[in-house]
Amino acid sequence: MSSIFEILDKDAGGRIGKLKTPHGIVETPTVMPVINPNIQLIPPEEMRSFGAEILITNSYIIYRKEELRNVALEKGLHGLLGFDGPIMTDSGSFQLSIYGSVEVTNEEILGFQQKIGSDIIVPLDIPTPPDVPRRRAEEELAITAERLEAARKLIQGEQLLAGPVQGSTYPDLREKAASHLKELDFGVYPLGAVVPLMETYRYAELVDVIAASKKGLSPVAPVHLFGAGHPMMFALAVALGCDLFDSAAYALYAKDGRYITANGTYHLDKLNYLPCSCPICSKYTAEELKKAKNSQELLGKHNLYATFEEIRLIKQSIKEGKLLELVEKRCRAHPKLLDGLKRLYTHSTWLEKFDPASKGTFFYCGPESASRPEVLRFGKRLERFSIEGPALIRTRPVKGEKEYSQILIFKPPFGAYPVEMEEVYPFSAEVPKIPDYEALSTALSNTLKLIDLNPEAKFTFICEPEFDHPLLEKIRKRAELVYRDEWKKG
Ligand code: GUN
Ligand code: ZN
Repeated sequence: MSSIFEILDKDAGGRIGKLKTPHGIVETPTVMPVINPNIQLIPPEEMRSFGAEILITNSYIIYRKEELRNVALEKGLHGLLGFDGPIMTDSGSFQLSIYGSVEVTNEEILGFQQKIGSDIIVPLDIPTPPDVPRRRAEEELAITAERLEAARKLIQGEQLLAGPVQGSTYPDLREKAASHLKELDFGVYPLGAVVPLMETYRYAELVDVIAASKKGLSPVAPVHLFGAGHPMMFALAVALGCDLFDSAAYALYAKDGRYITANGTYHLDKLNYLPCSCPICSKYTAEELKKAKNSQELLGKHNLYATFEEIRLIKQSIKEGKLLELVEKRCRAHPKLLDGLKRLYTHSTWLEKFDPASKGTFFYCGPESASRPEVLRFGKRLERFSIEGPALIRTRPVKGEKEYSQILIFKPPFGAYPVEMEEVYPFSAEVPKIPDYEALSTALSNTLKLIDLNPEAKFTFICEPEFDHPLLEKIRKRAELVYRDEWKKG
């Protein structure tokens, strides 16, 4: 495996990494602002001031236009754009997906990207849209595979080569495609043709596409989510193991008068106040921003600030082991994102493999938290507790508990664990005093499992009067169930 990508910190499937390119090292996760070589709303040389470390542009647009092509061949890509940091170039595949054809071959566009000194070169893959018949997805995948194999032979040396993962909305094709590319050893793995899913808010399926692709790739390979530029979904994608995003959104949204925040988008026309403190929003009122002659440029700048603010927050959350708390918060911005969150946790068994065994305090943020990888891990490790004699399961200390040879704390969403582990992660979790139904379901079913695993022990379960759950009846069959207000020991 290459040393192109180094992982420094991890949380859930997310990571902070360093990606080595010919024009410098990039810290991930990050967003690559899309530079349109024809129209520049914000000059590339200003991009660093927003937090950008790497840009992306389209080599096909440059190739097609003689003036641009000549400058690029003469002064190089970095000379053309006036940016001396890393630049990724796309191949024209996106145009291919929109217009049905492009006037360039895979070999031509690869050679061109190589010549102009691109840092990350993208072959002419075929972005197969969602929902196509399986036959079409397979046929296009075979062509993409051929082109990527050809690219791998052609591009050697310092420049990184991207290996886009396609396969439409067929998780098994995505996984197969990814594991084939893994063998070819690319520098970066973009997940392709996901734009239509994001445009229609199909976040649950997006989660499945990302998870399937990631399962086929090496866990230490850098992954780019092609065409993802809205900060409200970054945390979710990072938690699944995406490292790079690209944003045309900052400029496209500005063109439509849309104001990006990590919690969703506002239409500038409808904004009475600016809910942001970036240099633009600090300098202008909503009215001034609407009326400014360069309103579009200012809005584009705000959109970039909002985009990179979210990236920094994600990185800080990874450092603190709080990424999933951020994901759960962000996914409440839109009901379809909430579907994405729920789908994320259907992959908890897989996520659990990457999640650090110990990290910052677990915060219960709502019913979805009951399905977090940490909760799942606890459920799988119940065999490790060996309990004998009279055992007391309770939420808080009660009178007379010293009579029991073993005391277990009942804490939803986990279940019952030995009191000695109270301060240990994840049992140090911050949870609401009154658990919701999902937390109780998980905790009670884990408790039942624990009771069944220890037939020699004699369990007493002290239940809070607020607890109301059908599984309590099952507990009653296996243990002495007493409500706290009826507890009279001591
Ligand atoms: N831009 C957005 N989606 C894609 C994709 O699937 N492939 C390429 N090459 N570029 C894209
Ligand atoms: Zn702002």
